[in-house]
Amino acid sequence: MSAEFQASILGTGSYVPAKKLTNQDFEKTLDTTDEWITSRTGIKSRRVAAEGESTSDLCVKAAQAAMTDAGVPPGEIDLIIVSTLTPDYLMPSTACVLQKKLGLSENGVPAFDINAACSGFIYALATAKAYIESGQFKHVLIVGAEVLSRVLNYQDRSTCILFGDGAGATVVGRHRPGGKSHRIREVKIKADGRDTESLLIPAGGTVHPATHTTVDEKMHCVKVNGKEVFRFAVSKMLGMVKEIVERNGWKAEDIGRIIPHQANYRILESACERLNLPMDLFFTNLSEYGNTSAASVPLALDEASHMGKLPAGKPVVLVAFGAGMTWASAIIEW
Ligand code: UT7
Repeated sequence: MSAEFQASILGTGSYVPAKKLTNQDFEKTLDTTDEWITSRTGIKSRRVAAEGESTSDLCVKAAQAAMTDAGVPPGEIDLIIVSTLTPDYLMPSTACVLQKKLGLSENGVPAFDINAACSGFIYALATAKAYIESGQFKHVLIVGAEVLSRVLNYQDRSTCILFGDGAGATVVGRHRPGGKSHRIREVKIKADGRDTESLLIPAGGTVHPATHTTVDEKMHCVKVNGKEVFRFAVSKMLGMVKEIVERNGWKAEDIGRIIPHQANYRILESACERLNLPMDLFFTNLSEYGNTSAASVPLALDEASHMGKLPAGKPVVLVAFGAGMTWASAIIEW
C-alpha cells in the first residue's frame, strides 16, 4: 500500500477491577471444582467490576494509561472507538460516554462503538488503521472493554466460569520513526453470519425485547454452545496463524510473540500442537483474567509489552475469534 501515513501503535494501557473471583469461590456456589475448571479451560480466577462500576469507567482507566504510554495527551485524540458487547447503554454509545469522561466533548471528537464480540478489538484496529492511512485523523484512541459479569447467569456452571471483566486500550497514530511506534503491517477481519446461535445473548434487542419472561428465563445472559465454539475456535486459530506463518515463510524463531484471544488454554494448545509451534510463543494471561471478550487481546498486548515479552524488531501477531461468528488477525512490527 502506498500510504503516505503508516499506522502504528504508539502506546498501550489496561485496567482490571480489583475484585477477584476464584475457582474456589465457584466451588462454594456451584457443582464444580477448581480441578475441572483448570483442566478444561486453564482459568484460575477472573475479575469482577465493583457495584456501580460500568464499562466506560474501565475504559477511562485503560485509555488514560494508553495515552500516557504513547505520550499523546487527550486533547490530541481525533477519534474514539470502543469495542464492547457490554455497553453502558444500548444508546448512546459507550464511546460517547468515554468522550465525556475524558473531557473531550468541547472538541466534538467523534466517537462510536464497534461490536464484533471477542474479535472486536482487532476490528477497531482495522478501522483506526484505515482512518490514519487515509490521512483523515492523526490519533485514534481504541478501547476494548467488558463488564461481562453483568450478563452472566451465575447458576450456569458451563458458562459463568469462563468470563471476566477488564479493559485494554491503544493509541493508534502516524508512524514516528525513531520514537515509540510499532507499525501495523496488516489487519484482516472476517465474519460468517450463518451461525448466530452458538454464542448469543438472546434478549434485550428487537427480537426479544425485555419482558418479565425474558428476565425470568435469563435470556439477557450469555449462552454458549461450548463444543461448537471450541471447534470453530481451534479451526480459526489454526487457520489464521498457519496462513500468516506460511505466507511470510516464518519459522518459530522469526516471530516475536503471538497474542491470541484468551478463551481457553486447550484451544491454544491444540492449535500449537498442530502448527508445531512452542506454546511459550503464545502470550497468555487467561489463568488470571478468564475470557474478557473485546478486552482480551488489548489487555494481553499491554501486559506482554510491559512485561518485556515482545522482543524489539520482531513481528507480533494478534489473533481473535468470537460471536457472529467473527475472526481477525493483525501483524505489528514491534
Ligand atoms: O470467546 C469464545 C467464548 N466461548 C468459549 O470460549 C467456549 C469454548 N468452549 C470451551 O471452552 C469448552 O467447550 C468448555 C470449557 C465450555 C466446556 O468444556 P468441554 O470439555 O467441552 O466440556 P463439555 O461441555 O463436554 O462438558 C463435559 C461435562 C458435562 O457433563 P456430562 O454431560 O458429561 O455429564 C458438563 O455438564 O462437564 C460438565 N460441566 C462441568 N462440570 C464441572 C460443564 N461445566 C462444568 C463445570 N464444572 N464448571
